Amino acid sequence: MKPFRIRVPASSANIGPGFDSMGLALNIYLTLDISPSDKWEVEQHPQHLPELANAEEHFIVQIARDIAARWNEVLPACKMAVYSDIPLARGLGSSASAIVAGIELADKVCDLALSSEQKLELATEIEGHPDNIAPTLMGGFVISTITSGEIDWIQLPMPEADVVVYIPDEGLMTKAARKVLPETYKRETATSASALSNVLIGALASSDFELAGKMMERDLFHEPYRAELIPGYEDIKREAKESGAYGTVISGSGPTMISFAPKGNGQSIASHVGSLMPDHNAAVLEIDYDGAVTDSKSES
Ligand code: HSE
Repeated sequence: MKPFRIRVPASSANIGPGFDSMGLALNIYLTLDISPSDKWEVEQHPQHLPELANAEEHFIVQIARDIAARWNEVLPACKMAVYSDIPLARGLGSSASAIVAGIELADKVCDLALSSEQKLELATEIEGHPDNIAPTLMGGFVISTITSGEIDWIQLPMPEADVVVYIPDEGLMTKAARKVLPETYKRETATSASALSNVLIGALASSDFELAGKMMERDLFHEPYRAELIPGYEDIKREAKESGAYGTVISGSGPTMISFAPKGNGQSIASHVGSLMPDHNAAVLEIDYDGAVTDSKSES
């Protein structure tokens, strides 16, 4: 086995009313440098990574071993250097990125030759919903749905926009953020919520970001229930809007928020909102169009 690198992007799910369905890949990455070894060795380059107890129990190694076992293969020992720019428990898809990295690792070292569809199905089964997984794997803006285990998805071109994220110092676990959601919705709420989502997609497909921004801020599926868990929710939305953003929503289950803004305006919005929110890191990101990439350019 020659050394190789796996690079997996972060993602932002939901985009307002696209709850559990829409997602966007972002240009911050989880990177693995893999090389052959007699025993498992994991070297963590610690920014944004949990403390490591035992190499063989590393989350990514466990995912890779489970995937290999489904194809009756034994995952061979490797040396794995892990680098991550993706903050944990912030609504930027870190768990989806780790799951996809584990699947890519098993695919490469065991020669499984998995198709994109198989990777999507496996990763979604582990994660529970495809909204972060699909863009993380495929790149770009992906809308997906799962019905009785069957996943349908479509990748749409995203109109040109700057993307600004506001990442708070404190994390929020997805489990806690899902607990506050209602079990059921009244018919008129569900109808309005899906109508908002329909117009949002139409607006994005027509590059009408003014309309898209309006729709994304009117979500009825999750934002009304999660707002109180998100530090600075109203302030960030208001200040970003006043600085020219099209719209600002919770990224995934939060607590990061994300704005879409006219091209070239992102930096001034990030500086303005960042100066008012000292407990947040405000940054301009790019959309990643490559998705998960495995190549032989290891620098380890
Ligand atoms: N769609 C998911 C949620 C994303 O909002 O709970 C986080 O996994």
